[in-house]
Amino acid sequence: MNPIELSQQQFEQHFGYHASHTVFAPGRVNIIGEHTDYNDGFVMPCAIDYGMAVSFTPREDSIWRVYAIDIQETDAFDLKKPIPQSEDKWKNYVRGVVKFMQEKHPEFIHGADLAMTSNVPMSSGLSSSAALEIAIGQTCQCLGKLDISLTDIALIGQKAENLFVGANCGNMDQLTSALGQKDHFIMIDCRSLAITPTPVPQGYAIAIINSNVKHDLVTGEYNSRRQECEQAAQFFGVKALRDVSLEQFNAQGEALKAESELAYKRAKHVVTENQRVLDAVTALKAGDMVKLGELMAQSHDSMRDDFEITIPEIDYLVELAQVAIGKNGGARMTGGGFGGCVVCLVPNEKVDQLKTLIAENYQKQTGIAETFYLCTASDGVHVI
Ligand code: GLA
Repeated sequence: MNPIELSQQQFEQHFGYHASHTVFAPGRVNIIGEHTDYNDGFVMPCAIDYGMAVSFTPREDSIWRVYAIDIQETDAFDLKKPIPQSEDKWKNYVRGVVKFMQEKHPEFIHGADLAMTSNVPMSSGLSSSAALEIAIGQTCQCLGKLDISLTDIALIGQKAENLFVGANCGNMDQLTSALGQKDHFIMIDCRSLAITPTPVPQGYAIAIINSNVKHDLVTGEYNSRRQECEQAAQFFGVKALRDVSLEQFNAQGEALKAESELAYKRAKHVVTENQRVLDAVTALKAGDMVKLGELMAQSHDSMRDDFEITIPEIDYLVELAQVAIGKNGGARMTGGGFGGCVVCLVPNEKVDQLKTLIAENYQKQTGIAETFYLCTASDGVHVI
């Protein structure tokens, strides 16, 4: 059963009456542009056809009763009272979005019964958290008939994650879940928030391979990368690494290296990755899938050698995928790193070959079974 039907069915079973509305917010996969969003740079993800469904019915009062179908847990809170943080992480995504929605729209005090379910694998770099935040943000908009843009819903989701959940993420995931476009990659300028959609090339599939490795240290590693990037930006005397050109980096890089080797390596990744995103848009527009594949490979190498966020299992998956795909199209790690998924742009006729090569080797080499997904570039959040 898909998440939309499941949320509707389980709503009825749990609350004993029909849900009047359902909202669906997608996860995302990033094609290129990793750890560039919080450096005010460029990213090129797409929303996917996996996501979070929330079925709900407005209530007369200001109470939210939330049923998390997948873990069979519930939460309840009153929108007319201060919304406290919970010990349970999942509750803070919901409460956080409502809290920051109220901060922007104090008139929002509308109660509801809600049931929610997701088919985005958790902690895999496919933005299960953003899908939840955006689904809840859109639910608030519907309930209160709030005059709020999708961009602002995304920024509220990010704020909830930063300040209420305590994860210091950038804005890519929430913007993509809110503003994804069917059959398109969206290049986002994470400073201006401008979006340039580019069609997914015809004849190519988007395949995602989950390494099924989950790393405990992700948050700490993520935050230390952010700090190292800030240190590098300070060295160059700019607001964010977005403002450092390749020329400037080449001219002053050695001096930064003398000061901090780590900051140098992190900056090298970010400065070159920003350029790769821009080059990827050009390659896609020209239909140059060989170039796109090269850029994806360089992005992966840069994440492995300079940003140091890949792990052997992921490097191995990427090597296998690159062999199966050949020159047209490419593969790289996607998401925050330290496990998670590999994204592939693969000619349709090579999908089976890719799947088989990985099935025959990955588990044998690593002792872990992968999960293989084919997905399509999808629209952002919508009311069903
Ligand atoms: C996570 C964060 C994003 C982004 C990526 C890395 O998904 O939530 O904001 O920084 O990592 O590109």
